Amino acid sequence: MKKIVVAIDGYSACGKSSTAKQVASILGYTYIDSGAMYRAVTLYFEQNHISLTNESEIAKALENIDITFLVNAKSGLNETYLNGLNVEEEIRKMYISNKVSQVSSIKAVRDAMVAQQRKLGKKKGVVMDGRDIGTVVFKDAELKVFMVADIYIRGARRQAEYLEKKQLVDLEEILENLKTRDHLDTTREESPLKQAEDAVVVDTTFRTLEEQVEEVINLALSKIIDT
Ligand code: DC
Repeated sequence: MKKIVVAIDGYSACGKSSTAKQVASILGYTYIDSGAMYRAVTLYFEQNHISLTNESEIAKALENIDITFLVNAKSGLNETYLNGLNVEEEIRKMYISNKVSQVSSIKAVRDAMVAQQRKLGKKKGVVMDGRDIGTVVFKDAELKVFMVADIYIRGARRQAEYLEKKQLVDLEEILENLKTRDHLDTTREESPLKQAEDAVVVDTTFRTLEEQVEEVINLALSKIIDT
């Protein structure tokens, strides 16, 4: 069967990653979390005190950043490695969430990440989620999904995810972070988050994860049969 690229873009905490992971697993595709890459860069910048306004410092730092994904044998899920160290847990923490939109708005950072993402998707058979996958990274993706959801539902879901990891984060703090990121992600100069003209909108407000996955799988199958 022919392999396609599935691009899933949308606002933070709409269910992109959870959906993308399951869709990839059902199709036997590779899942790539492009947001994790920007989070890993943010972690490196934080750890190495990189100034976000110093272009040469940023360029040098980017040369020293190696991001890879490895499947966890227990969970079967991809985990993020920064220069050989597993940073999956660290990059999800609130101090990274509060900084990542700023870091991901830097052109040099985006250029470096987009080049890597294109390499990872060259052979097709990938499901990649992010903000600019259907508009910039894979403009010719066979299936483009744009996910939206009510902000309070998004906040509650994110809070539940933190609770699962035994982190208690105030809902107000999460909502504030989501609103700030929505604003930064949609208004930045470099590849702002926007719906691709040929994207299918999936509103997850009143949907369960299973329903979201089913909808995307059906869309993907119709594209696989078409192509
Ligand atoms: O998907 P996420 O919330 O983990 O992404 C973290 C941040 O990274 C998000 O606020 C914007 C940025 N990002 C981006 O600019 N482009 C992408 N393709 C993916 C994420």
